[in-house]
Amino acid sequence: MNSAPRVGIIGGGQLARMMYEAAIPLGIHVRLLAEGPDVSAAQVVADTTVGDYTDPRTVAAFAAGCDVVTFDHEHVPPGILRELEDSGVIVRPGSAALAHAQDKALMRERLSGLGVDCPEFEIVPDAAALAAFGERIGWPVIAKTSRGGYDGKGVWRLDGPRDAATPFTGLREGIRIVAEEYVDFARELSALVVRSPSGQAVAYPVSESVQRDGVCVETTTPAPGLAEDVALHAQELALRVAAELGVVGVLAVELMERRSGELVVNELAMRPHNTGHWTIDGARTSQFENHLRAVCDLPLGSPRTRDAWTTMVNVLGGSRSDLVAGLMHCFAHDNQLRVHVYGKPVTPGRKVGHVTASGAALETVQARARHAAGHLMGETDG
Ligand SMILES: Nc1ncnc2c1ncn2[C@@H]1O[C@H](COP(=O)(O)OP(=O)(O)O)[C@@H](O)[C@H]1O
Ligand SMILES: [Mg+2]
Repeated sequence: MNSAPRVGIIGGGQLARMMYEAAIPLGIHVRLLAEGPDVSAAQVVADTTVGDYTDPRTVAAFAAGCDVVTFDHEHVPPGILRELEDSGVIVRPGSAALAHAQDKALMRERLSGLGVDCPEFEIVPDAAALAAFGERIGWPVIAKTSRGGYDGKGVWRLDGPRDAATPFTGLREGIRIVAEEYVDFARELSALVVRSPSGQAVAYPVSESVQRDGVCVETTTPAPGLAEDVALHAQELALRVAAELGVVGVLAVELMERRSGELVVNELAMRPHNTGHWTIDGARTSQFENHLRAVCDLPLGSPRTRDAWTTMVNVLGGSRSDLVAGLMHCFAHDNQLRVHVYGKPVTPGRKVGHVTASGAALETVQARARHAAGHLMGETDG
């Protein structure tokens, strides 16, 4: 790679925007393939191409100007990525690893093959098989589309056989349905690791994450009350999965903690992840910087925390349309607060920013972050 590596990012969402922010002090040149001229990252990345990431020629032309290609999202068709690789483009994570973040059926098959604990599951061809699965293991069950889902889209909780047709309605060609045991979890956790092509890896402290309607709303790191041996197990599991699958860059392993304390894997993400946003302000090296270091095969930075506790709360589109107008109150109230606004139109429930608070007292840290996010969403006056 030349002295100023050119990293191509496919997808112009907030993850690309925050990666760009991390690239600036490293002198890394970012090229962006954005869905439109005004999307979150396109607003800030000077070297932006607007184009369709599902069009092979567009992606190939974009990649030709990059030393390495990485991602803001997991939706680039696998065939396009394999073609890029065959033509000599360096893609990180590579298509073979990424497939397990793109396809939940493949992920389940592979992880259970590795002996990693997962919810009981079955890939079901039709509504009858799904109903039979529910009858066998007991309702409710979870059904998921193998590909294309995000933020809870493509995930259904089914309460009985009469719901079994729902996931198959309008199902696109080539997409499979995974039926899963409904895990009545105590909470959800996230084990975030970063791995470089040379095999170096770092593990961030495990986070607790809270999802509402399938959307991450909040994380706290380290996960409060998580026993050290369980936390270590989660980190080791994530490091092992990263190594077995040959992941380069961030791997987020979403976990569910059963009421018995046992951990099962929910899903994998191979890009900076919402549960790692706390690292920008709460860790020595952010997930975005470490992702870039990994894709450029640079030594990774320390994943250690800066404070005892860090809470990140997402700002979801609410009644306040001008987020920046909410800053006056937030900053007057809390001069340690960190705010990240993504530049996206504020539509209901959409992730439009996040706030981070850190400190020595867990309850205070959580209260500060929740207050600020609530204010920015227009939920609180004070
Ligand atoms: N087997 C399951 N049992 C209980 N809840 C689940 C299960 N699978 C998923 N969920 C819930 O649904 C959320 C979204 O599911 P996930 O597979 O992570 O989809 P997405 O790709 O939209 O993030 C999870 O974070 C969790 O809260
Ligand atoms: Mg998920």
